[in-house]
Amino acid sequence: MLIDTFGRVATDLRVSLTDRCNLRCTYCMPEEGLQWLAKPELLTDDEIVRLVGIGVTALGIEEVRFTGGEPLLRPGLAGIVERCAALEPRPRMSLTTNGIGLERTAGALREAGLDRVNVSLDTLRPEVFRTMTRRDRHRDVLRGLEAARAAGLDPVKVNAVLMPGLNDGEAPDLLAWAVEQGYELRFIEQMPLDAQHGWTRDGMITAGEILASLRTRFDLTAEDEGERGSAPAERWLVDGGPARVGVIASVTRPFCRACDRTRLTADGQVRTCLFAREESDLRGALRSGAPDEEIARLWRTAMWGKKAGSGLDDPSFLQPQRPMSAIGG
Ligand code: 5AD
Ligand code: SF4
Repeated sequence: MLIDTFGRVATDLRVSLTDRCNLRCTYCMPEEGLQWLAKPELLTDDEIVRLVGIGVTALGIEEVRFTGGEPLLRPGLAGIVERCAALEPRPRMSLTTNGIGLERTAGALREAGLDRVNVSLDTLRPEVFRTMTRRDRHRDVLRGLEAARAAGLDPVKVNAVLMPGLNDGEAPDLLAWAVEQGYELRFIEQMPLDAQHGWTRDGMITAGEILASLRTRFDLTAEDEGERGSAPAERWLVDGGPARVGVIASVTRPFCRACDRTRLTADGQVRTCLFAREESDLRGALRSGAPDEEIARLWRTAMWGKKAGSGLDDPSFLQPQRPMSAIGG
């Protein structure tokens, strides 16, 4: 098991497959992109499958989420999913994507064994999408979402980040649309993970504000009375259900005490938290011929050192060196 000194057990593995992306969301990346990892630095498909295998068979990983950057940019994605689906015990598998290219790939990914998707979409207005992502790809995302639903990926979740002056008035419209389409919408508070270090607490829309905005149009009832387990999203039934909406309040209502995550970067580093400042190198061990037991031991040691919380509320908080796109969402 991957246990830490606070007794938390990590069963949920997030694997970043690439740090590259075909969008430039302002809360994530600068216009010009970032210094991407060079190909030899990236884990190969074989290395990824081996690490997921060690996680599943030796360390109690039950759920694997593929992220990025944009994971659909990784050519071997369907093959990785297929090979991970053959592991014993078979992990549940999901994908966090911006949806571009999902129109073409959703069917094959479903067949390969993918269970669920989260698609990021912050606005229903193409021109606002272009401002927020610096790319004119709104239609591609909508089509990707439709393809995911048609392929039987279930549930199809939509992640939205609200930004002041851009889409902060859109929460009720987004929810009405998601309910009508049968997507499960989750709002994510903007976190200090942008490469440009432009985040400020005063400049973010809080969960409280999001809920107040939604309540101008919908009746929301808390789904699981106070108990949200390890799920970061607090969920509400919309107008009595069955539709639901989630809010991930990583900043104003952190869920660190129940965190069950471990993360692997695209270059093979274990991170205990999105906000961790330390990483543990598994790629070096892999490439120097270490056996599975040794890699499992390194992973366990890394997780044992997991901090109690993100430190976001600490005045000495320092943003991690790597931006979100290089850590995996
Ligand atoms: N704060 C909150 N969410 C973010 N995402 C990317 N950067 C940030 C940030 N700084 C979201 C994306 C995607 C998910 C992986 O995380 O929109 O939905
Ligand atoms: Fe790409 Fe996601 Fe970053 Fe947007 S938030 S630029 S979709 S990695």
